Parts: sequence; structure tokens; C-alpha cells
Amino acid sequence: MIPANIIEDIKFRNEIENVISQYVTLKRAGSNYSGLCPFHSEKTPSFVVFPGTQSFYCFGCGAGGDVINFTMRTENLDYVSAIKVLAQRSGITIPEDNEANVNTGVSRQRVLDMNKEAARFFRNMLFDENIGREARSYLFDKRKLSMATVKHFGLGYAPDSFWALHDHLKKLGYTDKEMTEGFLCGKGKNNSIYDLFRNRVMFPIIDVSGNVVAFGGRVLDDSTPKYLNSSDTPAFKKSKNLFALNFAKNKCDKMLILCEGYMDVIALHAAGFENAVATLGTAITSEQARIFSRYTKKVVISYDSDAAGQRAADKAFNLLQEVGVDVKILNMSGAKDPDEYIKLFGSGRFAKLLDESKTRIEFEIDKLLDKYDINNVDDKVKAASEICSIIASFSSNVERELYCNHAAKVFSIPEESLKRDVAKASARNVKKEKSNQMNEIYRVSSGIGDRINPESASNMKACKTEEAILGMMQLHSEHLIKCRNELKADDFITSFNRRVFEKMIECYDANGKFDIAFVEEDFNINEISRITKMVIERQRLDSNGADVLDTCIKSLKAEKNREDAVSNLDSLENLFKKKK
Ligand code: GTP
Ligand code: MN
Repeated sequence: MIPANIIEDIKFRNEIENVISQYVTLKRAGSNYSGLCPFHSEKTPSFVVFPGTQSFYCFGCGAGGDVINFTMRTENLDYVSAIKVLAQRSGITIPEDNEANVNTGVSRQRVLDMNKEAARFFRNMLFDENIGREARSYLFDKRKLSMATVKHFGLGYAPDSFWALHDHLKKLGYTDKEMTEGFLCGKGKNNSIYDLFRNRVMFPIIDVSGNVVAFGGRVLDDSTPKYLNSSDTPAFKKSKNLFALNFAKNKCDKMLILCEGYMDVIALHAAGFENAVATLGTAITSEQARIFSRYTKKVVISYDSDAAGQRAADKAFNLLQEVGVDVKILNMSGAKDPDEYIKLFGSGRFAKLLDESKTRIEFEIDKLLDKYDINNVDDKVKAASEICSIIASFSSNVERELYCNHAAKVFSIPEESLKRDVAKASARNVKKEKSNQMNEIYRVSSGIGDRINPESASNMKACKTEEAILGMMQLHSEHLIKCRNELKADDFITSFNRRVFEKMIECYDANGKFDIAFVEEDFNINEISRITKMVIERQRLDSNGADVLDTCIKSLKAEKNREDAVSNLDSLENLFKKKK
């Protein structure tokens, strides 16, 4: 456990508005700040930062918490690692022997340490005179990589053995559980443990802090699966990492290049394009899109030239556009992917392709010109309507204006009528987003489908009262003390709120105060959002005095008595039935 006073100190020195403004552009709104939510895609801001309570809450997706929670979410860290990041940011040292990894699970740090050892092992195997011969020939002769490149990326070789890595890690003190949780080993019949990566060249995946978080492994021949990639582990989330971002992050002022494969990225870096990254064997996710927006203003999509690659490019286009980066697409012919292109035509030609890469609109217009014959009236109408909805999906007025102008010329349709249609379509989009948000707010406030507190739907009134009380308890410590004296956990009807109450009291008794940071580990991320929502909702009201709290306490007790009466009746009825 990290001592409470240190956690407080860390929170004090990392004001939430300062930390969040490094990720989100915040505008002042009264005493709070608002901006576009980093946890879901939106065009109108519903994400609010409350300096008063040092919390954030998104009224669109319901994400909320404190500065530690924000860091956990954006950096994909566990509680302790998030605290460490914030401590470092503000120059606070956390006393050593307090490694808070005593829980039963496998800790992130253990997996990271183990991965580092595994990467070292794979590297040694690659350069082992006999064991690594075939793999070396694959990398150096077949894929034409230089020694410098192989070393730079820390490439290695997983030998053709079911136990080599397992036995090596075991000698170093790692447990079977750590190896399976860390996706280095699998568990077979009768619990036998075996290496997952066998006879593959290994690509370590390194995060921006230099940790080996995962691996990709490629076969040396045509067998399948061609690539094996780590699944999510305590140290890794596929959807939140990018291959080679550890190098690219220092070269991305102008732009990042997004490729499909590890080998494309490696070939590009070797050719001097050190701003290339790739997703990890999956299509790009919205979380990855947000990573791009954090590191750069412009992304050039450089996917494979086949149909699958172009379909994937479409999706990437949408996701990247949503997070507001300037997206272009590279059009490559004569080679199936960037790796092959550079081998065939050299880096100069690739640089030219980068320069010639197209904007979304140019790309879409080219596709439409391919698909439709615009000398045919029917086709022209269809093309115009499709380009309209594409232009409408841009949130900036300036962009929409410019694209209308361009498209009008290409399809030779009157610019004014195109503009009118686009305006209509984009108003529809905004309305749809608003209505989705309203539906979500309604869904949450009516308790329908509430997974955090499933009892809320059948105990609406009680649940609202409980939340009001728990919110006020967070707002003022006098309120908390009053509730500690006048309420028992049993007075709470819904079990989630009861647990929150218990934890708050427990926290108060241990620390002389309540801070969400102290209980962060006892709740999951969505539960933290809910607890934060309770205080945010109270804070928006003017009436949070002792009298209001009194009324709530009375009302909860009355509700509880009614509940008890009903359940007494029920059991009485059961008793009668039995007697009969
Ligand atoms: P080579 O040049 O043939 O080594 O591969 P590549 O880098 O061109 O990869 P390809 O275009 O075939 O695939 C792109 C990416 O998708 C790879 O880097 C992998 O991350 C992933 N991938 C490819 N094949 C598989 C597979 O069989 N399973 C999984 N899980 N991922 C794969
Ligand atoms: Mn390839």
C-alpha cells in the first residue's frame, strides 16, 4: 500500500485541470471546464472537469473519476502505476518497500520484468550459432534486414521447443501462472505448461516508456497462423498500443505513417521513415485513433494495396477523422505493401508517394469516379448523394465549404445545391448525436440496463435517495460524519450503494477523511464513474445543506421500513402457505 498522505500529496500537486488539459482542449465554463470526451467519440463537448471536487465526468458516456482514475484510463495503467506516473510528474518519491502488488493476481510489473527476460532470451537464441541459423537466414537473407535494424528492434527467435522459454523463465523465478497470464505459455491437458511461441521470429512490442509489453511472432515459412500476437495481459492491451510508437514518438511532429504489418514498419524505419507505426494484428480501434491525436496532427494511412487493405483504410479514415487528425491515404501500385514497395522502388519513390498522398475527399471522389459514370444522369445523382453524406461527416464548417467547392467542380454540379444538401445532412448528424446522448442519459437515469447497480431499476426512489446521500457525504466531511453517526450499512437497500457506504466509512475511520483515491482499488473503473457521478450531481444543485441531508436520511429509513414491512408480509404469507 502507498501511504495515504503520499497519495494526497500527489493529488494535491497534480491538479486535475492541469493534467487533463495535456490530453483534452479545455474551455472554461463557469467555475468548471469542458471539452471533447477522450473516452468516446463526440463532436459536441459533454466532458466536464470540476476543479472544486478535483474530478471529471462525461455526461455523454458516463466516465468519471479523479486525476488518478483519469491517468489509469488514458495511459492504460493500473492504480499503482498511475500513481507512480503522477508522482514522477510532480517530483514526489514514493517510499520503496511499498510495492503494492500483494494482491493474488499477477502484477503488471512482474509481467514486464518477465517479458524483458523473454526478449533477451529470444535475442540470444537468434544469435546462437546453431539454434538461430535458420531464423538468421530468414531475417538477413530472405527479408534483407541489416544487423543494425535487427538490433534496433530487438528482434529474436523462439526456438522450436515446447519448454525452452518456460524452463529458462522458471530458473529465473517466474511462476507458471505468471507465464500463462503473460501470454508466453499455454496450459495443456492435465495442466501441463508449454511455450506458445515456437519456431518463430519474434518482434517485441515496446511501449512509449520502454517496457516490453507484448510479442508478435512470425513463422519462417508458409505455415499458419502466419503471425501469433500476444493477447491482452496484465501488462498489455492490444487495442491501446501501437507497434514502434516508442521510436516514432520522437519523429512525429509533422506526421505519423500508419501501416498494417510489423515488417512494413521495420522496412520503413530502415529506409529512414522513423515515423511509421502499425496496429497489432487487428484493425485500428478508437483508442488507437486517440493515441494518434495525442502525438501528431497528421496521419498518412499506408495500408496494403489489396481490397482488404483498402477496406481497412476506410475504417481507419473514419476513426482518425473523428478524433480530429488530418488524415491522408497513400496510393501504392506495383507492390502489395510498403515493405515490398521500398524493396522494389527505393525510399525516394516512397517519399514521393507520401507527398502525393490524398485527402479523404480526393480519395472518395476517385472511388466514386471509378464506381459511377458521371456522364449518366442517374449515376451522377447517386455519386452526388454519396459525396454529400461524406462531406457532411466532417465537423468543421471550413472543411465542408472547401470540399463542396471541390466536389462541385469534379462532378460538375451546382455548388449551391450541393452545399444545401450537405448542410441538411450535417444538421441531421448533429441531431442524431444529441439524441443518442439524450437516450443514454435517460437510460442511465431510469436505471434500465444499469449494470453497475442492477437493483436500481426496481428500487428507483431508494436508489436516488442513496445516491444523494453518498454524493453529499463526498461533498462535505460534516455530512459524512453525520451519516456515520445516523446511518448503518443495513439502512441501504441496493447492495452496490451499501458497499459504497461501507467503504466510505471504512476509509474515514482509517484516514480521518474520505478521498476516492483511497478506495480506487476496491472498485472497478465503471463503479468509480458512478461514485463520481453521485458527487457531481449534488454539486450541480444549490441545496446540499444539513436540512437536505436530514430529509434524505429520513426518507431512506422510511423507504427501508416499507421494504422490510413488505418482505415481512411476504414471509408471513409464505408461512401461512406452509401451514396450509
Ligand atoms: P509479411 O511481410 O508476410 O511478413 O507480413 P506483413 O507484415 O506484410 O503482414 P500482413 O500484411 O500479412 O498482415 C499484417 C499484420 O496482420 C501482421 O503484421 C500481423 O500483425 C497481422 N497478421 C497477419 N497474419 C496474421 C495471423 O495469421 N494471425 C494474426 N493474429 N495476425 C496476423
Ligand atoms: Mn508484407
